[in-house]
Amino acid sequence: MAEVAGGTLSLRWIVLTWVTIYIMTTEAVDRSNFKTCEQSAFCKRQRNVKPENSPYRALLNSLEVTEKSIKLQLINEVNKVPLLLEVYGLQGNMTRIKINELNPLKPRYEVQDVLVQDPPTVPLTVMGKDEGSVELGFGNGLYKLIITSRPFRMDIMTGNELLLSINSRGLMVFEHLRKRKDSYTEKFSSTVGSMWSKIKNVFISEEKKEENVQSEEMKEATKAGEEETAQGDQPEGKDSQKESEEKEDEAGMWEETFKTHTDSKPSGPSSVGLDFSLPGFEHVYGIPEHADNLKLKTTDGGDPYRLYNLDVFQYEIFNPMALYGAIPVMLAHNVRRTLGIFWLNAAETWVDISSNTAGKTLFGKMLDYMQGANEIPQTDVRWISESGIIDVFVLLGPSPFDVFRQYTSLTGTQALPPLFAIAYHQCRWNYNDEEDVRNVDAGFDEHDIPYDVIWLDIEHTDGKRYFTWDSNKFPNPKDMLQNLDSKKRKMVSIVDPHIKIDSGYRIHNAIQSRNFYIKTKDGSDYEGWCWPGSAGYPDFTNPEMRSWWASMFAYDQYEGSMDNLYTWNDMNEPSVFNGPEVTMHKDAVHFGGWEHRDVHNLYAFYVQMATADGQIQRSGGTERPFVLARGFFAGSQRYGAVWTGDNSAEWDHLKVSLPMCLSLGLAGVSFCGADVGGFFKHPSPELLVRWYQAGAYQPFFRAHAHLDTPRREPWLFGEENKQLIRTVIRERYTLLPFWYTFFYRAYRTGEPVMRPMWVEFPGDVDTFSLDEQYMLGNALLIRPVTEQDARGVQVYMPGKGQFWYDVRSHQRYTGPQMLYVPVTISTIPVYQRGGTIVPRKERVRRSSSCMQSDPYTLYVALNAQNAADGDLFVDDGHTFNFEKRREYIHRKFTFANNSLTSRSADPNGHYNTAAWIERVLVLGARRPSSVVIKLSDGSESSLDFEHNAETSVLTIRKPAVNVGADWTLYIR
Ligand code: NOJ
Repeated sequence: MAEVAGGTLSLRWIVLTWVTIYIMTTEAVDRSNFKTCEQSAFCKRQRNVKPENSPYRALLNSLEVTEKSIKLQLINEVNKVPLLLEVYGLQGNMTRIKINELNPLKPRYEVQDVLVQDPPTVPLTVMGKDEGSVELGFGNGLYKLIITSRPFRMDIMTGNELLLSINSRGLMVFEHLRKRKDSYTEKFSSTVGSMWSKIKNVFISEEKKEENVQSEEMKEATKAGEEETAQGDQPEGKDSQKESEEKEDEAGMWEETFKTHTDSKPSGPSSVGLDFSLPGFEHVYGIPEHADNLKLKTTDGGDPYRLYNLDVFQYEIFNPMALYGAIPVMLAHNVRRTLGIFWLNAAETWVDISSNTAGKTLFGKMLDYMQGANEIPQTDVRWISESGIIDVFVLLGPSPFDVFRQYTSLTGTQALPPLFAIAYHQCRWNYNDEEDVRNVDAGFDEHDIPYDVIWLDIEHTDGKRYFTWDSNKFPNPKDMLQNLDSKKRKMVSIVDPHIKIDSGYRIHNAIQSRNFYIKTKDGSDYEGWCWPGSAGYPDFTNPEMRSWWASMFAYDQYEGSMDNLYTWNDMNEPSVFNGPEVTMHKDAVHFGGWEHRDVHNLYAFYVQMATADGQIQRSGGTERPFVLARGFFAGSQRYGAVWTGDNSAEWDHLKVSLPMCLSLGLAGVSFCGADVGGFFKHPSPELLVRWYQAGAYQPFFRAHAHLDTPRREPWLFGEENKQLIRTVIRERYTLLPFWYTFFYRAYRTGEPVMRPMWVEFPGDVDTFSLDEQYMLGNALLIRPVTEQDARGVQVYMPGKGQFWYDVRSHQRYTGPQMLYVPVTISTIPVYQRGGTIVPRKERVRRSSSCMQSDPYTLYVALNAQNAADGDLFVDDGHTFNFEKRREYIHRKFTFANNSLTSRSADPNGHYNTAAWIERVLVLGARRPSSVVIKLSDGSESSLDFEHNAETSVLTIRKPAVNVGADWTLYIR
């Protein structure tokens, strides 16, 4: 271990290292390290506000209609603080609602860089107005938004149907910035205030300055509003909300202590909260990351779901505690429609969910129905954030795919990964040295198991100094990389965002001298403890810092790197071993003077962004990056993959990996996986095999293990288990064309690759709570075996008259039905949906790049109408040429009237490939008398085929057409 300057530091370092190791090896999460809502002052304050009359009133006379939005003042009738409400109609059936203080003491943080553009607006028209309400129309008259003045509420309707109400339970709380009453803090906050205005002058853009002038002008309106308030009726009595608003110095408002850490809260209370009611909805999803079921639970009587990026050692599953990433988007679904709520706030956030049907059994519901109780089911949601503003997007669907399109039109779609990244990855903490890497790599060849990427964890560096190599263990990194390259394989090295404080470390010196470290509240560089000992945390919210960081990935900066070396950004929550809740102090200061409190959940996003940019830049903008990150936020999908962090080799952890990745997919992040085998502990061979079988059907497929666990390469568990693992890894490789095509679709339309059953069967309530099975794209139903000693599993096959084909036996089932499937250790229940066409490449190779020109087999699964369709995306698999030069092939395959045609799905794309169609399998086919292929030049030839009467599979041999060609197969 490297030196740490100073004796006391050395002692601290030893103690902390010990504590870290202790934490890393203890049995389960120490819950007391993490706050409950009750222990989080703002959450507690907000949650103490009970549904009653809201003190907020909309001042309808202040209504201002501009080209882009409508503006209206709100007033809190108790403290008279005016707020500004802005409502935008957005293109594509969305609306945006922003609430900020009209004249805040200083600007409040508004999330930067997450939205891909200023969302294009559509005009909002005032349809009607009286003294109590104003009615706005948008979306070509399809939607109405009614703002009611007293108490303030908003209702969104389509026709006569109420879709969503805002502040209908009166839980809105907007804590205005204020000066602390006692003289010491008054002095202190005025110092902070003047510091702020100095910083502000430097950082705030001209545009913002203009806005400030405008808000000056609006003061007049506030006055008018106050007069209006004075004349209006005062709500009767004192409710709890008023009381809490009036309390200026409640515990935790100006300072808060948790365990040994005190948060100085220089701005005092600043939280925001708002409630949403969803009539007609019983099912809500999303708000990852939680190790919990797909369908979110009600939180009455327990803690709300927490969104606060945290490094939680040995996290517990099936609970609402915060984890590494946070995406504040929730989807609500019922048989008729899907809605989304996107709460754009990067501060610590809590989400409460309640429902009027919670706890009612099916029988109870039936009884209600029979007794004519006509209470409509309703879900109520309440969002609470520590700082920032209220900035919420309502995504009006109406279909799940509309919501995906809407959300990703705001935050971007999944970056199309390089092909290798969706193949198999071999990782552990740690592959020890070059010889170890060579042996593991050779092991895959020896055992004939394909793999694409080998990973190096923190021990490969010189004393946890990222961008360096341990010169004893990795003296010749380029030779090692070249050896991998000769097999078309890649490597990933870890680059964490904490930087060892060491005057002999180039990266540290550069960051320090450029003043790029995050600061403490007192203005010095923030220091925390992490893997290297004492570390600084680069301020990734600073664009200059990000561009400097990106430049460090240049081949001449990152010595020993090559173009087949990619990056893993771990610990980017950020993890600070000695910080409050193992993260950064909230009063640390970022670029622009913002507190860490304001940007916490966004930090991880920026780390991955800067790293991905670095990889793009090192190739001169040609190559697509691959960056895996542990922490994330809305929009992280634009920069790479995420994984579910430090899980355990336990059956329940395997189980929960499904809903965890499904929730992420709903929130835009398709590229998700869990450590195969489980990170902590040692899996039994059965668990390991089952985990491979599940992982092979999840988007990011990587085996990983803790430093202290025995080695786990697939051949170390006996011949039979090796073969089982090999089989499923190979299955993954055969399906790569299918995976890649669905990643392309995710990139184009935002649809998740791995998706809940209800997304494909939105009208079937029996799919709404399914955690154990899901769809890959629209075509494959996967029900991995996640139970120990399983002899059989239940598979729900939805769809009236829908055919499902077992992908191995080709046996056909008809939905809807609950099928009991007997299983052995080699069974992975996977079914192809009738009506779909799945492309595969069936030759076994060392790595995905070796398969580039390999031929395709098309699996055509017929539906009850003897029809099917599917598509295929092909490009070079690694550059941006598909975007920049339209170098791609996107084919559409259609089976109808006993013929299969291949046509271009997108005439804009062109790409030359040697890959051709080797075989077509038609599942559910009758025996034909001939099969003829007709090419676009009119030429025809008959093809060999074989029909299996028992399985009804027609195998057509060697159409031998290039995958980019137009052709038709006639099956007569
Ligand atoms: C924590 C990560 O979650 C884990 O995957 C990694 O192996 C260790 N950090 C060491 O880098």
